[in-house]
Amino acid sequence: MKENRSDMKSILRNTFCDIFEGQPCVFVSAPGRVNLIGEHTDYNDGFVLPMAIDRRIYVASSPRTDGNMCIYSWNYEQKVEFSVKELSIDTERRWVNYVKGVLATFTEEGFETGLGANLVIGGDVPLESGLSSSAALEMSVAFSFNQLFNLGIQVDKLVDLAQKAENDFVGVPCGIMDQFTSGLAKKNHALFLDCQSLQYEHIPLDLDRCNIVICNSNKPRGLANSAYHQRRAECQEGVKILNKYMPDVETLRDVGIKDLMRQWEKLPHPIGVRCGHVVSENQRVLNGVHALKVGDMNKFGQLMNESHESLNHLYEVSCSELDSLVTIARNVSGVLGARLTGAGFGGCTVNLVEKESVPIFKQKIFDIYPKETGLQPEIYVSQAVEGVKIE
Ligand code: GLA
Repeated sequence: MKENRSDMKSILRNTFCDIFEGQPCVFVSAPGRVNLIGEHTDYNDGFVLPMAIDRRIYVASSPRTDGNMCIYSWNYEQKVEFSVKELSIDTERRWVNYVKGVLATFTEEGFETGLGANLVIGGDVPLESGLSSSAALEMSVAFSFNQLFNLGIQVDKLVDLAQKAENDFVGVPCGIMDQFTSGLAKKNHALFLDCQSLQYEHIPLDLDRCNIVICNSNKPRGLANSAYHQRRAECQEGVKILNKYMPDVETLRDVGIKDLMRQWEKLPHPIGVRCGHVVSENQRVLNGVHALKVGDMNKFGQLMNESHESLNHLYEVSCSELDSLVTIARNVSGVLGARLTGAGFGGCTVNLVEKESVPIFKQKIFDIYPKETGLQPEIYVSQAVEGVKIE
């Protein structure tokens, strides 16, 4: 992947002018995200607390009249053209499927994109690293079509369409967290989302004393897809069993820690521990929101640590590389919390680090992690930024 963070906006605008010989009509961007706490809870109708990161996917576009989509990817240096009527899966250029998925979902829901468009897409969200570059791509493309074709769709509906594109067209059964954050996050705030009611609250994130530091393990997430499917199925199995004894239980959101303890012996291994993670993680999100509201960053860090332990031992979605990053981090004084973020099995960790400790934190990670794993990490110190917007 190419990357030049100095001025993504002008790079993308100039690329559009070079390729399509004219200025774009619409220029938008959408951010990637990091989840601060609340992992593997979204598809269980639970709570999550992510923030949008200061890395975005940009889309420059203009309308066509021939019913074709002509798209250039700046990151992959590939140009693709296809008719909006022929949306087949592209097995070689996987990034194209996210655009096709958005188109297919728009068409299915009766939103007209029939005349086609020219698009240049590119950005600096690390790809395949668990920071939701795909949600940022879907949201920026969906927002572009909304502007370009004057469809008047609200952002919360675009979030829904983007998730459908990923679930139904791309075939990844993700929850709602990533698209929601890329669409509706607010600058300097974390986004507290109830994935059952889809009500949300922007929680001020006071980063005067601490930084949010993301470490990319650069471990390929080979197992992630099948394990994600399996964890979802295990949670559903848990609900099915619990529902026999507690008829009101429709999802794990309806189960409290005490309920779970009461029914514990009915749940075979590993169903019980999987449910144990989800039910306790929901409570940690609520406690985390409270900690942020009262400015107790130490408490928030402690909850992050507990979340990692639960993901590692109960949900079993960590791996030696993520554990190595977390252990190195926790041995640096001034690190208040460290946990894996996203689906697991690779990708990134998120760390709450006191500002004056960030240099030593970086040094320790760069020194020790490659020796322990043979992999080269990347570190991003991130601000919380706003969701999808016109540039
Ligand atoms: C992936 C999915 C999200 C969420 C996380 C785990 O990032 O895309 O919807 O389920 O895993 O919290």
